[in-house]
Amino acid sequence: MEQYIIKGGSPLAGEVEIGGAKNAALGILAASVMTKDPVIIENLPDVRDTAVLIQAMESIGTRVERIDRHTVKVIAAGINSYSIEDGYIKKIRASYYMLGALLGRFKKAEVALPGGCNIGSRPIDQHLKGFRALGAKVEVSRGMISAESENLVGNHIYMDVVTVGATINVMLAATLANGKTIIENAAKEPHVVDVANFLNSMGANIKGAGTDVIRIKGVEELHGSTYSIIPDQIEAGTFMFAAAITKGDIMIKNVIPKHLESISAKLIEIGCEIEEFDDCLRVVATKRLASTHVKTLPYPGFPTDMQPQITTTLALSEGTSIVTESIFENRFKYVGELQRMGANIKVEGNTAIIEGVDSFSGAGISAPDLRAGAALVLAALVADGFTIIDDIRFIERGYEDFPEKLTALGACMEKAESERDIQKFKLKVG
Ligand code: EPZ
Repeated sequence: MEQYIIKGGSPLAGEVEIGGAKNAALGILAASVMTKDPVIIENLPDVRDTAVLIQAMESIGTRVERIDRHTVKVIAAGINSYSIEDGYIKKIRASYYMLGALLGRFKKAEVALPGGCNIGSRPIDQHLKGFRALGAKVEVSRGMISAESENLVGNHIYMDVVTVGATINVMLAATLANGKTIIENAAKEPHVVDVANFLNSMGANIKGAGTDVIRIKGVEELHGSTYSIIPDQIEAGTFMFAAAITKGDIMIKNVIPKHLESISAKLIEIGCEIEEFDDCLRVVATKRLASTHVKTLPYPGFPTDMQPQITTTLALSEGTSIVTESIFENRFKYVGELQRMGANIKVEGNTAIIEGVDSFSGAGISAPDLRAGAALVLAALVADGFTIIDDIRFIERGYEDFPEKLTALGACMEKAESERDIQKFKLKVG
């Protein structure tokens, strides 16, 4: 089984190029099947989640031609099925975006019911509520969700919780419904806006994405488009914290600084220096960082997908910090792994009380999910000695070339396929 082996200690310095946003790419890939015309998608991140969703699209007759590593051409003229089999949703939950896309275009769709995952139960009641509000008959049976409708009719939908997935899914279906749809209490994440912009580039009529009220005027059909995905806010944030925790100096290129404001604010608060440019920003940390309190919130608040990274960094800060996870009910599972490296963190419900320690020691640990896995890599980068991280497949779901990008910044790490690789690495680096 593949593992990362990391020898901690070197501050990271240099430049890193951020890829396309995974969570925008998943909505955009799903949306690309809503037209029979060819669609070109650029700046597509080459990660496991996008690869799996492309396979799901191909499984129902979509042709996806890879133009280069980060560009695909999608031709959905030949779709011959509206049912995505359950293997895909087990690999990535976001396969459920095919519900909104296929329901919108073909007025019928069937996707397996996503289970919970390592960070919480993750219900989809708001997705189904939205589809029903548009007039679809939605049934959940035998582990499958089926939705169909003679024709979808726009409606006024109020989301009971702020949900990225449901906002995107309902927006997909409403794009081709008859009449107007208003989504109230909508999610405002940059990736929601990117999916809306992509749909508009295909001829949709969506206004207000990025605010909590999205107004959609249904159109007859969508046409082809060429579209480039926005930079990944969370990949960028992860490298910002890599500079912070290693007391490094990293120029993070191809970002939208506006999307990173809540992350920059917290890093400045704990003692980092941040210099912003048009499409890049520089993060420098020269001294031991200070403690702070942070609560994860929907955008533009501090992102839940950055919670493991800030908790890990605060575990080495001076003093006591408190991190409150307000989005998911079980997103501190990785704390046990940090404690094995010497962290002093007490989790009570959805709050972590962190007493900063002077250092971590390397250990054998496992990545429980995507973002926690990335945070454990950050911990290993500063730990004394060697750390071996299992289950790196979780990390590779959302980070393209993670070891390569970190090594280029001075990290001492490799992807190991065997015990022999680990021994060789240890001999090589001493
Ligand atoms: C998206 O998940 C992201 N995934 C997550 O990123 C991210 O953590 C999350 O948004 C919050 O920003 C993708 O975009 C593929 P939600 P999603 O619906 O859409 C509750 C990563 O690391 N809820 O915004 O599933 C839900 O339980 C991943 O890239 C309902 O109650 O998140 C949660 O408490 C991890 N009913 C809250 O809303 C619903 O129908 C926010 O969930 C839907 C959600």
